[in-house]
Amino acid sequence: MTIKATELFDVQGLAVVITGGASGIGLACAEVLAANGARLALFDSNAETLAQAVRRLSGEGAVARGECVDVTNRAALETAFESNCSAFGRIDVVFANAGIGGGPGFLAGDGTRNLQRRIEDIPPEQWQRVMEVNLNGLFWTIQSAVRQMKKHGGGRIIVTSSVSSFKTEQHVGMPYVVSKAGVAHLVRQSALELAGCNITVNAIAPGPFITNISGGRLKEPDARAPFERATPMHRLGEAADIQGLALFLASPAARYLTGAQVCVDGGFSLGRAD
Ligand SMILES: NC(=O)c1ccc[n+]([C@@H]2O[C@H](COP(=O)([O-])OP(=O)(O)OC[C@H]3O[C@@H](n4cnc5c(N)ncnc54)[C@H](O)[C@@H]3O)[C@@H](O)[C@H]2O)c1
Repeated sequence: MTIKATELFDVQGLAVVITGGASGIGLACAEVLAANGARLALFDSNAETLAQAVRRLSGEGAVARGECVDVTNRAALETAFESNCSAFGRIDVVFANAGIGGGPGFLAGDGTRNLQRRIEDIPPEQWQRVMEVNLNGLFWTIQSAVRQMKKHGGGRIIVTSSVSSFKTEQHVGMPYVVSKAGVAHLVRQSALELAGCNITVNAIAPGPFITNISGGRLKEPDARAPFERATPMHRLGEAADIQGLALFLASPAARYLTGAQVCVDGGFSLGRAD
């Protein structure tokens, strides 16, 4: 039997929630799913960029809703999931993507030690906030998603982790690296428990991407330089580089994939090539 790509990657009509959907990687996922007929709910804590994103996607003909919600607020998140399930009738796919940076690493861009970023100087408030958003908020998102998906016979959870979840980093802050390591194992553990419920859980692990994270610091050539040198493809990711994988993971083509973490990083996690 011939299987057409249009059927294999068909996301038409799927009800999709994307946390952190108003910017960067989440917005790129929203764009590719909207362009292929999915119905979208963007959850984001930034009311202004959220309204802009929803307006733009709707103006392009997509079915798009926005919920201004902070993923660290468990009750608000649960309410947002419930109201989207009522609006769309079900939730098929959840991108648990919202996340924040964890400050610079222990090496500066020129390779010297960054004395403000030694282990003993990492501010406790920063450590706690990064864990709260990147790890706890992601877990609350999975909990709310699972409650809705179990009512409707299954679904797809797609988490944004990072290559920092499994490799050490010189130029990325300690709290971020550790939060993402937790996320990677949360994906595997959730996938194991949920496989029998027809819910798959997979992760997209980006390398360095130029987005608005950490105040958009990777838009600055000096901040970008060490990552460009360390990336075998010699360029950082742009949001659109995530779209093929996002569409694949949301589509029927990925139906037997679970517990996987797929790197999109121009070879960054392989090590330096020159
Ligand atoms: N950009 C990179 O280099 C890179 C690399 C690996 C992984 N990631 C991960 O990708 C994900 C998306 O980041 P991005 O690079 O697109 O950044 P971004 O800042 O462009 O987008 C993140 C979005 O999440 C929202 N957000 C932040 N905290 C939130 C909260 N508590 N509740 C709800 N929404 C919140 C922000 O308002 C923003 O719209 C994050 O999990 C990040 O860790 C990014």
